[in-house]
Amino acid sequence: MKAQLITLLAACLFPLRGGSTADWCYHLPTCNYTTWGTLVAEHCNGSHQSPVNIVTADVKGYAGLTAFTFTGFDDSSSVLQIKNANGKTVKVVLDDSKMSVSGGGLPGLYRTQQFHLHWGNGSSAPGSEHTVNGRRYPMELHIVNVRSIYPNARTALRHSMGLAVLAFFIEATNDRENPESWKNLTSYLSSIPNKGDVLDIMNQLTMDSLLQGVDRTQYYRYLGSLTTPPCSETVVWTVFKDPIHVSQDLIGLFSTTTYIETADDQMITSNFRGVQALNGRVITSQP
Ligand SMILES: *[C@@H]1O[C@H](CO)[C@@H](O)[C@H](O)[C@H]1NC(C)=O
Ligand SMILES: *[C@@H]1O[C@H](CO)[C@@H](O)[C@H](O)[C@H]1NC(C)=O
Ligand SMILES: *[C@@H]1O[C@H](CO)[C@@H](O)[C@H](O)[C@H]1NC(C)=O
Ligand SMILES: *[C@@H]1O[C@H](CO)[C@@H](O)[C@H](O)[C@H]1NC(C)=O
Ligand SMILES: [Zn+2]
Repeated sequence: MKAQLITLLAACLFPLRGGSTADWCYHLPTCNYTTWGTLVAEHCNGSHQSPVNIVTADVKGYAGLTAFTFTGFDDSSSVLQIKNANGKTVKVVLDDSKMSVSGGGLPGLYRTQQFHLHWGNGSSAPGSEHTVNGRRYPMELHIVNVRSIYPNARTALRHSMGLAVLAFFIEATNDRENPESWKNLTSYLSSIPNKGDVLDIMNQLTMDSLLQGVDRTQYYRYLGSLTTPPCSETVVWTVFKDPIHVSQDLIGLFSTTTYIETADDQMITSNFRGVQALNGRVITSQP
């Protein structure tokens, strides 16, 4: 544990060694999100960053924010794997040859590659990335979509609106083990405790079942960035107004089951970036 901490500290203090963006973190003063602008030296100090606080009184109506078309969201064969992704989040890999998103005021078709989650620390601390009128929700789910005219995410990252992220807030309820889809999803967390662990979950879940109860016609729209390094400012954001409702006991599993490092004692908690300045950007929504 001590040796690992020293290695991690060294990695955080000397980020240029290896030249990757792998040395940022959420939980240490030396590499948490307040340091990314200088530590990572890419786009994290830009002026169109995410997440942001959504002030509902300042949101402007825009009639171009039409309904989305979701393809493959009802197909359990398109939900492939669950991962402890680099000790920083839980990611579910999706089959982007079967899943896509269009409409919703987007400039074209986007292939759906993965979703992942941001959380706080059980019922002690909320962990959404976006906030609404200063309120942070318990969790936030991000569905990452890559514009189909680009061959991959890496290329899409270099183009305006190359990525479309669909964000869903998760609100806690007081019942237990609900809904069934989230009970199912969280049952796999105990199989991926350590950094890099992967489990095949094909044919277990659909994206629709995880989003059940959400009105997907009502959303906020703005232009921003990845909320993790390299913080590229090429993301068109959709933040749905309706939250997904999940029992507090299931929400608590995220901060008590997955670890930052293998054989470490530190759980992944509060894996969200603080809100960034709008710097004149306007957030729109349905009129
Ligand atoms: C991040 O680190 C800074 C020091 O670099 C510290 O002041 C701040 O409290 C930390 N914030 C979080 C959210 O960990
Ligand atoms: C962001 O950081 C980079 C690298 O340190 C620097 O070149 C750039 O000028 C900075 N941009 C802003 C807006 O501060
Ligand atoms: C998370 O919450 C638990 C229980 O409330 C507490 O023991 C733990 O120290 C917290 N972890 C962090 C990183 O704040
Ligand atoms: C998840 O749902 C699938 C499909 O309904 C089912 O076969 C599987 O047993 C469930 N897994 C768990 C752990 O409940
Ligand atoms: Zn995210």
